[in-house]
Amino acid sequence: MATVNVYEQYFAADLTASGVPRKGALVMLTADSGGGQIRYEAAVSFFPHRDEEDFAVSYDAYYSRVLYEAEGRRSKQREAGFLKDFLPTIDALAREAGGRVFWDKPLREARTDGGQLPEFGRNGSPAEEAVRSNEKEESPAGNAERKLIAAVPELTTEQRDRIRKSAQAAGLSCRFFESPEEALPEVSDAEVIFAHGISLIGSAPRLKWLATPFAGVDPYTEPGVFASPDAVLTNSSGAYGTTIAEHIVQVSLSMLRQDPVYRECVREKKWIRALPIRSLRDSRIVLLGTGDIGRETAHRIKAFHPASLTGVNRSGKHPGDDFDRVVPISELDALLPETDLLILSLPNTTETFRLLDERRLKLLPDDALIVNVGRGTVIDQAALEKELRAGRLFAALDVFEKEPLPADASLWDCPRLYITPHTAGNLSLPYTVERVVQLFLENLERYAKGEPLLRQIDLKKGY
Ligand SMILES: NC(=O)c1ccc[n+]([C@@H]2O[C@H](COP(=O)([O-])OP(=O)(O)OC[C@H]3O[C@@H](n4cnc5c(N)ncnc54)[C@H](OP(=O)(O)O)[C@@H]3O)[C@@H](O)[C@H]2O)c1
Repeated sequence: MATVNVYEQYFAADLTASGVPRKGALVMLTADSGGGQIRYEAAVSFFPHRDEEDFAVSYDAYYSRVLYEAEGRRSKQREAGFLKDFLPTIDALAREAGGRVFWDKPLREARTDGGQLPEFGRNGSPAEEAVRSNEKEESPAGNAERKLIAAVPELTTEQRDRIRKSAQAAGLSCRFFESPEEALPEVSDAEVIFAHGISLIGSAPRLKWLATPFAGVDPYTEPGVFASPDAVLTNSSGAYGTTIAEHIVQVSLSMLRQDPVYRECVREKKWIRALPIRSLRDSRIVLLGTGDIGRETAHRIKAFHPASLTGVNRSGKHPGDDFDRVVPISELDALLPETDLLILSLPNTTETFRLLDERRLKLLPDDALIVNVGRGTVIDQAALEKELRAGRLFAALDVFEKEPLPADASLWDCPRLYITPHTAGNLSLPYTVERVVQLFLENLERYAKGEPLLRQIDLKKGY
């Protein structure tokens, strides 16, 4: 049984602004015939009908935009079953918008005869011609269209609507896909891609801007991954601070308060309650990385009254009021012996690779806790495991040298370790998605004006 989901609606204001005299609307719908393999899209224009304040659906507009997609193939095809579900939805939408639909004759007939579509292009209808011209427009040769491809599945309908409007204002057409894989056949002439697009950029020779919704950019820094020599890359650093800071507080308290051990006791129905616990109060805390994540974490941890809150970065520059002091990376070794909690939020670069190596791990006090949310490559994982198995240090790792952590990795059952499978800052929190959208829209406005983009990555430095 097919389902129809409305995923975009544009009502009167836009069309009025673009010269249509009164009410009008454009509605985009998807239908899924079950199993998710087949997908339809349709656009219907509602234009002012005669002298009345109502809507008329343009049959040709409808026909010209029906797409059929399956297994990567794409062709235009009419589909009676789809139409049957589609028509009442349009009726309902028009009612919601305070109007009434006046159906074109062929659609009116289709509506009343059980969803059967009239013959394609019958009675000299210009539908076929509209389809043909649409196809011509989409072919790379004659295509003057500037395209934005967005493939961030977590986007809500309302967020897609905002992005489409901003894209239109920037002179870009905009298409949404549920995954980068689904977008792949469409990116050859894309100007802008908003996606975690490592699988796309090798197929986008006209790309000018890739906006990744993630903060980490390590996959993009390999030479030759971009097919377009002009492409710039921006990340979404600034979106993840809240969710990751909460994760850091959560895992730090869990480890300090022996929660994993208590969970085990509870599972075994043992009433044990006197394990020694520790507090963030009076702890000496070092944040290695004072970017968005480091700053947001420091802001929250300050409320726990630590003994000291020290930031470490490349420059030693103070990024905010919450740190007691900020030192350059050259002073890290001197800090480590006086660290109870070491929080790492560093990117993966050649400079940060195995920064926390065996030698530095040994500088930490025996019961120090390490929390890593940046990249797994920053710690020598084998050396850390050796320390943990020897009864030194504690760790909470969200990121690993190899992800997913292989099923046969010995780390899975390593003592003194709290594993989370890179869940600290993914897009499962709606607040994070909204921040990602805000950052993208802010940059889209700059892009439209030809201004430098924010959070642009230096691909040579990898950061
Ligand atoms: N676990 C997750 O789910 C998740 C989610 C999002 C992000 N991440 C990771 O977290 C990283 C940081 O994110 P963010 O948004 O906080 O990034 P950010 O705002 O760009 O901050 C990065 C920080 O790292 C510091 N840094 C970079 N290279 C360094 C080096 N060689 N030595 C010392 N400090 C160095 C920078 O120092 P300066 O200030 O001196 O430049 C800056 O303070 C991302 O790159 C990503 O890999 C993980």
